[in-house]
Amino acid sequence: MDIVEQVVGKYLVDLVTAALEGNSQRAEVIALSLSRSLRKENLIVAKKIDDALSLFSLRGSSAMRGGDVPPPPIDADTHAEMAKVISPANLTLSLPILNLETEVRIKAFLNERVNVGKLIENGIKPSNSLLFVGLPGTGKTMLAHYIARELNKNLVVLDLSASISSLLGKTGHNLKKVLEYAKKTSAVLLLDEFDAIAKRRDDSTDLGEIKRVVNVLLMELEEWPVSSVLIATSNHPELLDRAIWRRFDHSIEVGVPEEKQRILLLERDLGSFVNIEKEGGGIIVVIAKLLEGKSAADVIKFCNNVKRKIILNEQDPIEACFNELDIDKSEKKTRGTICILLKQHFGAKITVRRIAEITKLSSTAVQHHLKKISHE
Ligand SMILES: Nc1ncnc2c1ncn2[C@@H]1O[C@H](COP(=O)(O)OP(=O)(O)O)[C@@H](O)[C@H]1O
Ligand SMILES: [Mg+2]
Repeated sequence: MDIVEQVVGKYLVDLVTAALEGNSQRAEVIALSLSRSLRKENLIVAKKIDDALSLFSLRGSSAMRGGDVPPPPIDADTHAEMAKVISPANLTLSLPILNLETEVRIKAFLNERVNVGKLIENGIKPSNSLLFVGLPGTGKTMLAHYIARELNKNLVVLDLSASISSLLGKTGHNLKKVLEYAKKTSAVLLLDEFDAIAKRRDDSTDLGEIKRVVNVLLMELEEWPVSSVLIATSNHPELLDRAIWRRFDHSIEVGVPEEKQRILLLERDLGSFVNIEKEGGGIIVVIAKLLEGKSAADVIKFCNNVKRKIILNEQDPIEACFNELDIDKSEKKTRGTICILLKQHFGAKITVRRIAEITKLSSTAVQHHLKKISHE
C-alpha cells in the first residue's frame, strides 16, 4: 500500500469526522499520528502539520485541554450537556461595531476587569454582571464572546431557548448546576436570550417553576464571585422583571447602528468591491443613509447579497447596491441624490429610463434632478 492510500485509509476519514464534530482534541491526536507516519515519506508536509499543531496550542486552547477544565454538567435525564464551553482561542477577536456610548461603556467595564485587584485593594467591588438588551442582530451575543476573549476566560453558554423545558421541569436545579460550574471555573457565563424564561409566563402551568428559576438567578446575582462574569442578553427587555434589571451591575442597550457605524460596516464589507475613492465616499454615505434603522447583522447581510450579485451576475457594483436597496420607501430627496450619483457614476452608459427604474421616480422627475448637475 502506498503512503497516500495509507493516509487516506487510516487517518483522513477520522480527521474529517473529528473536524465536523468540532472535536478539536480528537483532531489534534489524529493529526499528531498522521505527522509521525508521514515523517519518513514527506518531511515537508509532516512539518507543516506540526506547525499547525503548535500554533493551535499556542493560541491558548490549553484551557480546554486535559483535565484543566471539568466537563460542563449534564442533564440527569437526557444526559445532554447543559452548557457549551468555548475557550478564548475560539472566540472572536473583533469588537463589534458599536455606537459610541455603548462602546465607551464596554471599554469601561473591561478596564474595571483588568484592574480588579486594584479595586479590591481599595475595598470597591468590581462589576461582574452585565445585561445586554436590544433588537436581534445588534451584536449582543458577539459582544459576550468578545468580552470573554478579552478577559482570556472560557465562555460558558447556557442557551435558555434550548434547555428551557428541562430547566423548568427541574425547578431551577439545572440552572443552578450551570451557574455553579461557571463560578467554579471562573468563566464568563452567558445566559443568551434570557427572556425565554419570562416569555413562558403566559403559560400558567409553568408559573411556579418560572418564579423559582428567576429566584435562583436573583440570589445568584447577589453573590456572584468577583472572579467570574455573568452576561445575560435579551431581545425583549419588556418581558423581564424590573427586579432582574436592577440586580445587574450594568444594563446596556445595544442599539441599531447609527449612520457613522453603518458607514464603517459598509466600508469594511463592501470597500474592496465598490470603488469608494472614485465616488469620493459618496456612494457609501448614500447607502448608509438608506439603511437607516437596520441592525448591524442586516447591514452585513445586505453587503453579502450585493457581493453575491457582483460575483455571480457580474453586475456593476454600484448598480448591484441600488438594486438591493429598498428604494421604494426612501424619501424623495434621497432618491434625487441617488439619481445624481448614478449619472455621475455611469455617465452616458445609463439612460434616464434606467435611472427612473432604479430610483422608482418618473422620467420627468429624473430629468429634473439631472438638470442640477448640468448647471454646475
Ligand atoms: N455591532 C456589530 N458589529 C459587527 N458585526 C455585527 C454586529 N452585530 C451583529 N454583527 C454580526 O451579526 C452576527 C449576529 O449578531 P449577534 O451577536 O448574534 O446579534 P444578537 O445577539 O444581538 O442578536 C454576528 O455574528 C456578527 O457577524
Ligand atoms: Mg444573540
